[in-house]
Amino acid sequence: MTAAATTEVMRAEGLARHYRVGGGWLRKPALVRALDGVSFTLAAGRTLAVVGESGCGKSTLARQLVLIEPPSAGRLLVDGADAATASGAARGALRRRVQMVFQNPYAALNPRATVARALAEPLVIHTRLTRAERDERVAAMLARVGLRPEHAARYPHMFSGGQRQRIAIARAMMLSPGIVVADEPTSALDVSIQAQILNLFMELQETSGTAYVFVSHNLAVVEHVADDVMVMYLGRVAEQGAKDEVLRHPLHPYTQALRAAAPVLRRADRHPRRPLAGELPSPLAPPAGCAFHTRCPRAAARCRVETPALREVDGPGGRQVACHFAEQE
Ligand SMILES: Nc1ncnc2c1ncn2[C@@H]1O[C@H](COP(=O)(O)OP(=O)(O)O)[C@@H](O)[C@H]1O
Ligand code: SF4
Ligand SMILES: [Mg+2]
Repeated sequence: MTAAATTEVMRAEGLARHYRVGGGWLRKPALVRALDGVSFTLAAGRTLAVVGESGCGKSTLARQLVLIEPPSAGRLLVDGADAATASGAARGALRRRVQMVFQNPYAALNPRATVARALAEPLVIHTRLTRAERDERVAAMLARVGLRPEHAARYPHMFSGGQRQRIAIARAMMLSPGIVVADEPTSALDVSIQAQILNLFMELQETSGTAYVFVSHNLAVVEHVADDVMVMYLGRVAEQGAKDEVLRHPLHPYTQALRAAAPVLRRADRHPRRPLAGELPSPLAPPAGCAFHTRCPRAAARCRVETPALREVDGPGGRQVACHFAEQE
């Protein structure tokens, strides 16, 4: 393993984000714990996939990681520097280190800017490169993401969804960020295109060493891209660890249920389990005890009153599971 492969580029410690919603005349606002204490470390060139149903807090986490929103609690370190205490130029530098790719590339691109302008813009703002040097970098990046030189002069509406996502990825990579946070980057694309975009992410990671936080509700996508996996349920981590452990031998009943619902993974499963029953509870009134107990096939009386802590179950540094009965699998 090279030194670069173990360099920590991002660390989250108990990150939380709470929103006040509703409220008004004589009515107290309610508190949504959209993100409620999430920790992880990410090394250069690695991919952490974040998975969970819609409403579990994945996008809220993504927004904390790209410094769009300050966390309500917890700490985020980028290259060892605390994002909360960095100010001025240092904060600008951290922001450049972490770039985001969104689900909808069309919304992320200015419809009136050509591809060349969209890609050159970060260089204009953050570097002192000459026009000729910028043009050279734009041309090189277009080639890397599989677009042709003549595409540079075209506008976003002239491209297919998959090509637009290639442009958005190219833009995110222009300043050689150490980390890219991608929030459901293939969910809006035709299934036939999704694998091409996933492969592009993988190729770019191989050549650039960029670390990814890859958010997806789709376990097949996670299987394709992840080194490590974090499974979220109602703002908290249900299970997290190396991909092969979490996806091949899941210990949390929620991970097991997600897996049972994923056709690609189910085929290899000799012990099929019941897929998820019922709806995600309202995050405004999460169930007491273990938040998953209302849908868990293994729930016991204890689960309704006692919140399970996230614990290492395979020894120090190994996979973590938040279930009272993880060891009894
Ligand atoms: N700005 C906000 N104000 C109030 N509630 C929010 C806000 N953003 C997200 N939420 C709530 O937080 C929860 C998690 O949302 P989100 O992070 O978008 O989940 P996911 O991306 O996993 O679908 C949801 O219940 C959502 O309604
Ligand atoms: S703690 Fe109880 S309810 Fe929660 S996942 Fe484990 S068995 Fe299910
Ligand atoms: Mg989301």
